[in-house]
Amino acid sequence: MFWSKTLKLAGLTSLMMFTTAQAATFDKPETDITYRQSALTMIAINFSDMADMVKGKKEWNDAAFQLRSEQLAQLIPMAQHGFSSSDSQTGETKAKAAIWTDAAGFEAKFSQFSKDAQNLATVAKEGNRGDIKKAFGQTAKNCKSCHSDYKSK
Ligand code: HEC
Repeated sequence: MFWSKTLKLAGLTSLMMFTTAQAATFDKPETDITYRQSALTMIAINFSDMADMVKGKKEWNDAAFQLRSEQLAQLIPMAQHGFSSSDSQTGETKAKAAIWTDAAGFEAKFSQFSKDAQNLATVAKEGNRGDIKKAFGQTAKNCKSCHSDYKSK
């Protein structure tokens, strides 16, 4: 009983992994590059709108901040998806080869980024301005931390 269940589960898991790997890349490497750069551009737009509120360059708006933080969190897995294929390391890209030679390190950067952005979205919903600014600062560290290792200038 136990084993048959376990085997079934194992089969399901490998099937799921297979599906994920199959779905991971686009037909052309240029599409992966455009996909991730587009997501990163949208990340930067959402991010700088929040930065303007945090720095007082723009009037604070709770609803706008919540929306920006939610969209940032949603865009992160999409940006990551665009790095699935190592075929996309040449062409119009600033992605360093280390993304694929040190895949675990790169994934760890994305996972930290995702965690911090999700926390920011949660804190933004709660509405405490001090906590929001702290969570924003924490999220902001991820940009430089990843770019310095994995993005060329
Ligand atoms: C986990 C790694 C990682 C994190 C975290 C990260 N980036 Fe990037 N980013 C990259 C890489 C790699 C590229 C180069 C992509 C390419 O050219 O194919 C890039 C490119 C960009 C680009 C250029 C997109 C284009 O059109 O070419 C912008 C803008 C950007 N990042 C903004 C940000 C901001 C803002 C943050 C933080 C809120 C951030 N990134 C966090 C890895 C990261």
